[in-house]
Amino acid sequence: MDIRVYGDYREMSRAAAQIVADQLRAKPDSVLGLATGSTPEGMYAELVRMYREGQVDFSQAHSFNLDEYVGLSPDDPRSYNVYMWKNLFRHVNFDPKRVHIPSGVGDDLAGQCLRYERMIEEAGGIDLQVLGIGRNGHIGFNEPGSPFDSRTRVVDLAEQTVSVNMEKTEAISLPTQAVSMGIGTILESRRIMLLANGVEKAEIVAKALRGPVTWMVPASALQVHGDVVVLLDKPAASRLETRM
Ligand code: GLP
Repeated sequence: MDIRVYGDYREMSRAAAQIVADQLRAKPDSVLGLATGSTPEGMYAELVRMYREGQVDFSQAHSFNLDEYVGLSPDDPRSYNVYMWKNLFRHVNFDPKRVHIPSGVGDDLAGQCLRYERMIEEAGGIDLQVLGIGRNGHIGFNEPGSPFDSRTRVVDLAEQTVSVNMEKTEAISLPTQAVSMGIGTILESRRIMLLANGVEKAEIVAKALRGPVTWMVPASALQVHGDVVVLLDKPAASRLETRM
C-alpha cells in the first residue's frame, strides 16, 4: 500500500486532484468512481480550478458515484446528487450522459442496483475509485459487517453514521438507509485512492491500514487490493507511526 502523508488538508487535496488529472491524461475516457462527504470537497475544488486553467479535461470521462440516500429525490439538497453537481459536475466539462449516481428513489431499488452494476461493467469497470472513510471504517455506505463480496444494494446505516452526517451537513433529518456500491464492487476497481484528514480519523485509519482484515472494519478490505494509494494529512496519519 502506498501511503502518502501531507502537511495539511489543502496539500492532500491538491495531490488527490493531481492523481485524478494524471489518470485522465493517461486515459481520457477513464471511468472514475467518485465519493462524497466533506473529505473530497477540497479535491473537487482543486479539480475545478485545474479545469479552469486548462489542466484537466473531463469531456470523455465516465463517473459512477458510490452511494445515495434512500428516499431523497435527486434535487433534494441533502442528496449526493446535489452534492456532486454543486461541487464538481456543473463547473467542469463532464458529459451529463456519462455521469452516474445511484438513485435512492423508485419502485424497484433492487433492480436498479443490479442495473448500476451492469452499467459499471459495460463502461469497462472503474479505473480509479476515490474513497473517504467513515469514523467506523465504512467505505461508501458499507457499514461494519458488510461482506467483502457485497455488490450494489440497499443498506441500513449505522446510527453513528446518520448522526455524524447530520451534524456535518447541518441537516435536520437524514434517511437511515442508502444505496451503496458494495465492497466487492469497490475492490474490482483497477486503482483505489483513499483520502482521510483530521485527527478524528486517525484511529480508524490505523485500524484499517494496519489492523486485521475484517468485515468489522470495512476499509481493511483495501489491504487485499494490489493498487491502493492512501493520501492523509498529518493529523489523520498520527496513529500510524506507532503501529508501523
Ligand atoms: C459518508 C459517505 C462516505 C464518506 C464518509 C466520510 O457517510 N457515504 O462515502 O467517505 O461518510 O465522510 P466525511 O468525508 O464527511 O468524513
